[in-house]
Amino acid sequence: MTNEHPMKGVVPISFYEPQRLPHYPTDVPAHDSFGRRIDYLRVSLTDRCNMRCVYCMPAMGMRFQPRPELLTNDELLLVVRAAAAAGFRKLRLTGGEPTLRQDLVELIRAMKAIPGIEQIALTTNALRLRRLAAPLKAAGLDRVNISIDSLDPVKFRQMTRGGNLDEVWAGIRAADEAGLHPIKLNAVVVRGMNDDEVVQLAALTTQHPWEFRFIEVMPLTGVAGLAEEGVVSTAELIARIEAHFGPLIPYGQDPADPARRYRIQGAPGKLGFISAVTDPFCATCNRMRLTADGRLHLCLLRDDEVDLRAAIRAGATQAEVEQLIRHAVQLKPWGHGLPEGVLPTLRGMSELGG
Ligand code: 5AD
Ligand code: SF4
Repeated sequence: MTNEHPMKGVVPISFYEPQRLPHYPTDVPAHDSFGRRIDYLRVSLTDRCNMRCVYCMPAMGMRFQPRPELLTNDELLLVVRAAAAAGFRKLRLTGGEPTLRQDLVELIRAMKAIPGIEQIALTTNALRLRRLAAPLKAAGLDRVNISIDSLDPVKFRQMTRGGNLDEVWAGIRAADEAGLHPIKLNAVVVRGMNDDEVVQLAALTTQHPWEFRFIEVMPLTGVAGLAEEGVVSTAELIARIEAHFGPLIPYGQDPADPARRYRIQGAPGKLGFISAVTDPFCATCNRMRLTADGRLHLCLLRDDEVDLRAAIRAGATQAEVEQLIRHAVQLKPWGHGLPEGVLPTLRGMSELGG
C-alpha cells in the first residue's frame, strides 16, 4: 500500500498537548462545525482479513499493521468510554474482518456495558459466524451486516479471492437463528463481475425478511482503478431490478442511514442502495471511524485523522480523550471531494471497514 507521507492529512496534534486544545463543554453531545450531530462510531478492530475482496484489497503488496500498532482492548474501551461521554450512541465493529480479533466476545460485552452505548452492530464476511453468532448475541451484539457479492460459489471465490460461499451461508443462518436481527446483506457491485446478478440478489428479499444493500464501489487506495471502470450507478441498478420486478416501492427513509430504501411489491425484505459516488449523502453524515491503530478518521473518503493513540500512550485521561474526540468532531470535513477528483490516498478500505 502506498504510504509515502505518513503525516499527510493527519491533523497535527499527534504530539499530545492538552493545553493547546480548546475546551469543549461536556454537557452537550458533540456536533460538528456544520451542525451535524455525530453519534455513530465505526471501530476497526484489525486491518487483517481472511478474504481479499477485489474491491477492498489489491492483489499484491498488502502490508498489515504489526500488533503493537493496534489499540489494546483496554485502550479501545477507553476510547469508547470517552466517545460515549462525548455523545456517541451507536458502535459498529469492522475491520478488516472483526471476527479475527481475539476476545471479540469479551470486547463486545465490555462495550455494551458502557453507559450511553445503546447499540452495537458488526460488519463481517461471516466466515467465522457459524460458531460465533450465538456467543456474540449473548454478549450484547445487536445486529450484523454480512457481505455477499455473488450467489455463484465460483464467482464468489473469485471476487473474494478465496472465500467459501457455503461457510457464508452457514454464518447467515447462524446469525438468523441467534436473533441478530434485522439481518442486512451487502454486495459491492462491480461492472463485469457481479452486475449480472443484481436481480437474483434482490430476489433474496422476496423470500427472507432481510435488507439487501447494493453498494457502489468506492475508489479507495489500492482499488481506485477498479472503481474507475466498475461503478454501476444506483439509477442503473434500480432500472434493472424494476425491469424484472416492476416498480420498487420507496420504504421509510432513516436520515441516519445512507441507504435509499425500497421494497419489491409483496416482498418481506427490503432493498437498500448506497450511492456514495453518484449521489453523496454527506449532508446527513452522523459518523466517524476509529482505525485499528487508534486514529479517528474523520471522513471515509478523505485522509484527515486525529491521533488518539499518541495521546493515550502519553497518558491522557478519559476526560482528555473525550476532549480530543470532541475536537475531532469539530474538525470533521463537510464531505468528500470525489466530484473534484480528490481521492483519499493513505488508507485502504481494509483499514477503514466500509
Ligand atoms: N467500495 C465500497 N464498499 C467497499 N467495501 C469494501 N471495499 C469497498 C469499496 N471499494 C465494503 C464492503 C464490505 C465492507 C467491509 O466494506 O461492503 O462489506
Ligand atoms: Fe475482507 Fe471485508 Fe475487505 Fe472483503 S471487504 S477483503 S471480507 S475486509
